[in-house]
Amino acid sequence: MRYAHIIGWGKYAPERVLTNADLEKMVETTDEWIRSRTGIRERHVAANPKDTTATLAVRAARDALNMAGVHPAQIDLIIVSTSSPEHIFPATACLVQDALGASKAGAFDLSAACSGFVYALSMAHASIASGNADYVLVLGSETLSRITDWKDRNTCVLFGDGAGALLLRASEQPGGVLSTVLGSDGSGGDLLILPAGGSRFPTTPETLSQGMHYIKMDGREVFRFATRVMAKATQEVIAKAGLRLDDVNLVIPHQANERIINSSMSALKLPPDKVFVNLDRYGNTSTASIPIALCEAVETGRVRPNDTLVFVGFGAGLTWAAAAVKWGVPPPPPKPPSWWRRFRLATQSPWATLRSWALRWGRRIYALIPGYSGESPYLPIGRTKETPPPVAPRPSPPPEEPPADGAGAPS
Ligand code: COA
Repeated sequence: MRYAHIIGWGKYAPERVLTNADLEKMVETTDEWIRSRTGIRERHVAANPKDTTATLAVRAARDALNMAGVHPAQIDLIIVSTSSPEHIFPATACLVQDALGASKAGAFDLSAACSGFVYALSMAHASIASGNADYVLVLGSETLSRITDWKDRNTCVLFGDGAGALLLRASEQPGGVLSTVLGSDGSGGDLLILPAGGSRFPTTPETLSQGMHYIKMDGREVFRFATRVMAKATQEVIAKAGLRLDDVNLVIPHQANERIINSSMSALKLPPDKVFVNLDRYGNTSTASIPIALCEAVETGRVRPNDTLVFVGFGAGLTWAAAAVKWGVPPPPPKPPSWWRRFRLATQSPWATLRSWALRWGRRIYALIPGYSGESPYLPIGRTKETPPPVAPRPSPPPEEPPADGAGAPS
């Protein structure tokens, strides 16, 4: 039996902090309204254009890898959960893979909005349990400030930017991810939506003038949905792990709104000291909120070895997800790392940059070689400079003989 243990974790939030007082100068709102309706005091925003969903994710990932003492080349799979990817394609996960120098890893993005991190954790768990992967890097990263309408007070006071990472490792020691529950209800897809930029409404001057490239939300309906599913998903995941509510040491819910958290956790009769909340300082960072909160819970001593944790989230889709986790890093690999391994760990970042640069230039140089016809280590998909031969027309089939008995003839 293979178990998926969390062996490294990291978080990153951009430097610029936007307070409620700052927002008072931008839209018709007050600090009092925001705090009393949401619990948020401030949030981090990616004010520097160089900060993107991938760069935030890379910073969180490096912390997780360094903590675990794992080299990027050991990673088998990278999953980036995000609703604010760098591009529709390539996947942000591939940019992270390149920046880390994770030369052996498969990489893909996962889109399940604020529930995405727990969805990704569930996929990582399945990959490890099935024997498909030994090391999986799971990331939740968002730059929601880039898709927020800063003139819409209904949404702009809620969201923030940030990233969180967990590194999972296969182990035969029982523990790690115990159970997961995933759910969706697409009938509520219009309640929280980024309408344009996809195939339904490709970007046009009209979609831009109507602000359809910004988040739109029916806050009241999302609120109702969230309070309903958070408690239900928590109960289901605990039962699936064969546990009782009393066995849970800490619930780390999606950090969207303090009122949603309080209402759903009091429905479960969970005391506040069993629920971790940090949204006052981050706002709603969507899929990044649970891993950021987990990192802070560990840093502040709220998580101890052998604790049973529950992560539970909800979001656009509509989606919801929960995971039960037994906390505790399994024993490290038997041998202490050699000096060469320590050196490689310490130099992984410049090495990844060099590797990426060499691969890019390798592609360009190969493409310049006269008569070059494809196969190279830099071009996994063969490319040719010659014009491909014209496709021969298919010979027309011989006319069919009518069957002797007349069967099949039109009547
Ligand atoms: N500042 C001041 N007033 C605001 C405001 C703001 N930033 N945003 C909205 N208002 C106004 C509304 O226009 C409304 O005015 P009206 O009564 O004149 O129409 C009033 O405040 C109350 O709006 P209401 O929708 O009843 O507030 P609420 O108590 O439901 O709180 C939310 C609003 C958005 C905070 C709340 O519905 C919520 O958190 N929903 C869930 C959103 C969420 O979590 N989304 C992410 C999911 S992952």
